[in-house]
Amino acid sequence: MGFVVTLDGPAGAGKSSVARRLAESLGIRYLDTGAIYRAVAYRLDGEGISSQEEEKMAESLASIKIRIEKEGIFVNDENVTGSIRSARIDRIVSGYAASKAVRGALLGLQRAQADYGDLIADGRDTGSVVFPGADIKFFLTATPQARAERRYKELLRKGEAAVYEEVLARIHERDDADSRREIAPLLEPPDSIRVDTSPMSEDEVVHRLLSLIKRRMTQDID
Ligand code: DC
Repeated sequence: MGFVVTLDGPAGAGKSSVARRLAESLGIRYLDTGAIYRAVAYRLDGEGISSQEEEKMAESLASIKIRIEKEGIFVNDENVTGSIRSARIDRIVSGYAASKAVRGALLGLQRAQADYGDLIADGRDTGSVVFPGADIKFFLTATPQARAERRYKELLRKGEAAVYEEVLARIHERDDADSRREIAPLLEPPDSIRVDTSPMSEDEVVHRLLSLIKRRMTQDID
């Protein structure tokens, strides 16, 4: 297993853009575990299987092959990268992510990614369940208001109509669903470094994490 960095936290804490930039700076691979859950949700939903149908999901998952390539994420031979960030997938993915069949099927795939070299993974349980032995773990958080404001500004930038109060309400709903579910709820690993990004710019978060990772990497070499 290579050097593994994990980055967990609630929706909107800025994990994926920070993780992507860290991976680029360090020249290591980025594993977006949320994208894997989204790809599975897209496929099962497309097959007409709801997140309540555990048996049907397990059956279908047995014949699904997911590949993560430079070009994107593939389900069997379909590149689904462009289809997994829709409003529909946003709405339904947490239902599938709460399923035992889905989480069990995806665990080995996520772990295997560390066999190919150094890795930075982001998600909800990468430090607690997927890579409990990671070299350095971060828990990125921010107040619901700070996260809602970022998301709201992002939507406006994209030219979408958005109401701040509605964005905030959706953040509360997702936090609730992700932290209350029985299987792999959002947990803060006790050995992770907590970073509250509310008062920080993305650049500041990246610099802070980068210096901590580099320090840990050299400690390991010494
Ligand atoms: O980070 P995201 O919005 O792309 O995640 C999509 C969904 O997958 C979200 O409902 C949380 C879930 N998820 C999870 O349960 N465990 C992970 N390691 C990553 C994502």
